Amino acid sequence: MTPTTPRGTRVSHIGIAVEALADSLPFFRDVLGLSEVELANSDGASIVGLSAGEPLVELLEAEGLDSPIGRFMAKRGPGIHHICFSVDNLDEMLERCRKAGVLLIDETPRIGAEGKRIAFLHPKSTGGVLVELSDH
Ligand code: CO
Repeated sequence: MTPTTPRGTRVSHIGIAVEALADSLPFFRDVLGLSEVELANSDGASIVGLSAGEPLVELLEAEGLDSPIGRFMAKRGPGIHHICFSVDNLDEMLERCRKAGVLLIDETPRIGAEGKRIAFLHPKSTGGVLVELSDH
């Protein structure tokens, strides 16, 4: 999975928790003019991806109350849920995080909405921001 030319750590997407995709999509798609990209639903959330340059905006609507987005909405309400950085070598980055004492939510990578390997870091270790790491 390591690219031949390192690209460095980049913003991959910003995940935004929404009450209802149908209510939030018109602003991002029709007013801001972001175009939709096909994404799989993931982690109990319905997801709409929107291309914003290279990074995406991902609108996340909970499919049930007992899902990560459902619990976030109950506690915090709608808003920015997480930021995803893609990295040159996800396994090495997770190891570097571990060595630095960063709490990992996912000890080993799993497949996320874009079909790439991802892993979440705990907000306790990242200044209160839920951080997702992924392959490029
Ligand atoms: Co994400």
